[in-house]
Amino acid sequence: MANQESDFFKSKITLYVLACWILAAFGGLMFGYDIGISGGVSGMDDFLIKFFPKVHERKIHASENNYCKYDDQMLQLFTSSLYLAALVASFFASKACTILGRRPTILMASTFFIAGASLSAAAQMKWMLIIGRILFGIGVGFGNEAVPLFLTEIAPVQHRGAVNILFQLFVTIGIFIANLVNYGTSMVHPYGWRLSLGLAAVPAVVLLFGSLIITETPPSLVERGKEAEGKAALIKIRGVNDVDTEFQQIVAACEQARQVKQPIKKLMKRSSRPPLIIAIFLQIFQQFTGINAIMFYAPVLFQTLGFKADASLLSSVITGLVNVGSTFVSIYAVDKVGRRLLLLQACVQMFISQLAIGFILHFHLKETGSLDRTLAAVVVVLVCTFVMSFAWSWGPLGWLIPSETFPLETRTAGFAFAVSSNMVFTFLIAQAFLSMLCHLQSYIFFFFSAWIFVMGLFVVFLLPETKGVPIDLMTERVWKQHPVWKNFFEGEANRSYEP
Ligand code: BGC
Repeated sequence: MANQESDFFKSKITLYVLACWILAAFGGLMFGYDIGISGGVSGMDDFLIKFFPKVHERKIHASENNYCKYDDQMLQLFTSSLYLAALVASFFASKACTILGRRPTILMASTFFIAGASLSAAAQMKWMLIIGRILFGIGVGFGNEAVPLFLTEIAPVQHRGAVNILFQLFVTIGIFIANLVNYGTSMVHPYGWRLSLGLAAVPAVVLLFGSLIITETPPSLVERGKEAEGKAALIKIRGVNDVDTEFQQIVAACEQARQVKQPIKKLMKRSSRPPLIIAIFLQIFQQFTGINAIMFYAPVLFQTLGFKADASLLSSVITGLVNVGSTFVSIYAVDKVGRRLLLLQACVQMFISQLAIGFILHFHLKETGSLDRTLAAVVVVLVCTFVMSFAWSWGPLGWLIPSETFPLETRTAGFAFAVSSNMVFTFLIAQAFLSMLCHLQSYIFFFFSAWIFVMGLFVVFLLPETKGVPIDLMTERVWKQHPVWKNFFEGEANRSYEP
């Protein structure tokens, strides 16, 4: 059922609410900075000589084999240990979100991240580096769980998509800043890599202060029995006094939620499966677009394609900018054209881009030697068209849709499954990509395009449109109306929050 005009409660965008959105979105910057920094750092000679001398040896004799020069499990573990830690942490974060609230969970995220940045920057031995990554990972797990939920819960329904996508916008800004930082610090010898890792503390410090300023979300307050505070918070973030109808919806959702004592058990029930399946698959598919093969390893990838070290950092700056710019398209369009159209359009564009990259490399890049200049430029353009379409679709919507489709009683637990699926598959891609590149060579791009085809079908048949539907009415208005998912509710007692 489509949204109704009456759902669009009155609200004003006050300076305070704008500050809440932006400060919380710094959680995305922490995450993005980390995604962007690792690839560059693991390409820096000083860093490799200190911690991975064998990889450095192989890099100097790079002409041996284009596709295999960085293949090293320990080096990959450096990049991916963060995601394992984040995966485990997201379940603790979900508990913290429910019991303590979204705001303290955001505060904890920034604290872990600051500790991770300090230890990594000071690392003398490999184990310090890995523990630093784990602390970063816990920070990411807490931040990625709490921030998208926070943004979704404080956004007015008619702008919910756009507000939530601020998280992804800051992810992309984080990746871009990291690329710039790496570009600069790669010229600072021998400690450039320390600067790169240590500067991760900057967004975390902003988030730490931010978490002292932002409000707790009304649903979290009411769920924890603080009704008066919840209403006051709603008045504050809506900028108007007349919030009764919306508040009633929240109270009704909370009453329902309080009856559920074990969210994970409830989540495993048949009727909870539709949003759970969608949340997990959106994240798996998001990673199987191959985006992080590009994001983590853009500098490495461009060097593999025969660009010189500086040129390759520059190329990843270009993709970083395209990533940020295209996210604005999503912010503008998501509450107008809806989620499905963005995802489907992007599938077509990503499919064509990956396929074309695959063909060019297959026919023109041999194991040794490099691409000629024109073809290398074409590959950069194709990488950009790929990144562009990801940035206005699967990137932001992989976070938005799981944050808006669970009922309150399973929201934090369900979203933890989305976060952890993201982490597992980010981990797998990060861990496997360099080896896959080494063994599959150009076929890796065909591998990703096959996945993109499958995810297009998934959207056509299984993904309902959620634009403009109040989150507390999702079950009635979306899941129970969908030709496939409605079957999961047969025999369930009716629930309705419609005031
Ligand atoms: C994904 C990351 C990815 C980033 C790229 C995020 O939505 O979760 O894995 O690196 O987008 O912008």
